[in-house]
Amino acid sequence: MSYADEARERVRELKARGHAVILAVESSCDETAMALVADGRRVLSGEIASQVDTHALYGGVVPEIASRMHVEALDPLLDRVLAEAGLGMDAIDAVGVTFGPGLVGALLTGLSWAKAFAYARRLPLIAVNHIEGHVSANFVANPELEPPFVCLVASGGHSHIVSVERYGAYKMLGRTTDDAAGEAFDKAARVLNIPYPGGPLLDKLAEEGNPEAYRFPKIHTEGKYDFSFSGLKTAVINQAHMLRQKGEEIRVADWSASLRKAVVDMLVDKTLAACRDTGAKSVALAGGVASNRLLRREMERRGTKMGLKVYMPPVALCTDNAVMIGSAAFYRLMTGEPAPLSLNAQPSIRLIEE
Ligand code: KG4
Ligand code: ZN
Repeated sequence: MSYADEARERVRELKARGHAVILAVESSCDETAMALVADGRRVLSGEIASQVDTHALYGGVVPEIASRMHVEALDPLLDRVLAEAGLGMDAIDAVGVTFGPGLVGALLTGLSWAKAFAYARRLPLIAVNHIEGHVSANFVANPELEPPFVCLVASGGHSHIVSVERYGAYKMLGRTTDDAAGEAFDKAARVLNIPYPGGPLLDKLAEEGNPEAYRFPKIHTEGKYDFSFSGLKTAVINQAHMLRQKGEEIRVADWSASLRKAVVDMLVDKTLAACRDTGAKSVALAGGVASNRLLRREMERRGTKMGLKVYMPPVALCTDNAVMIGSAAFYRLMTGEPAPLSLNAQPSIRLIEE
């Protein structure tokens, strides 16, 4: 039987059984990650080889270095996730892999590895959208969470408000018209010479600062649930230059707290407006920016006040990881077809809509 026929046959069996252990592979940016996830919800093991320290030397992700480091990290990660789960390769039912969006070279390393593994083991290959992965981190963290719910996905490359209608079926309610929220944090941090990655450090500094100390403009967008951060970024840069020219020292903690509040207010205002207008009962957070302390507190406080159930993954599942890919892969496996070995990386793919 050809590999493609075998993969389809395996998928039919797994759908009938309703259970599957997925080996998940993530390599879209600067973390190489692998995980073993059972039935989309249960983490058997999860490991991340982070490259952050290397890229920090250059002030940002260097794509060519990222690709080379992924290649070195992939094989050892397989041994680590199997050992951590106490399982052999025979326990793996399918391979889930991120095919986009992300850096093309980085994506291709994980994709090629996953294809080779799936082919050699005669296992179905499941193509996972990275953004869908971020949303799915909520299924691992919250056993009772089921669609429908509204999800704010905010990461270094994306800021979306989506309605999760069913597993794998989304409706886009709003998105950024320019920079992503994480990008806004990272660029503002750079202005203050806060080292890469700026977002988490700025968040930490902000905890000690006064959010009313500096005034940043409120940005208006055409779409009711759309975001825009580039105006804020420009205002931040201009204000920093102006203060420096006047010889005034920028109080880093106050500055970070004021900027963080401006970004978080916009994210929470728009997400809750979308919840109200669509009659949603539950709201979830996803993506690297979902680890922001103020965003978590404000969403919990204001969402609960509105009568919503508020969900968010633990911080470790907000930033890039493979557990979330394993969860998304399970639901794709149960509802869709296996990917062909001709599957290519899609660096700019969007979330699949209904
Ligand atoms: O989801 P992620 O790990 O990678 C992408 O898919 O982009 O998100 C990374 C982004 C970076 O921009 C980083 O600065 C931001 O998430 N980030 C944060 C925090 N932790 C990570 N931004 C604000 N506050 C944080 N605590
Ligand atoms: Zn991500």
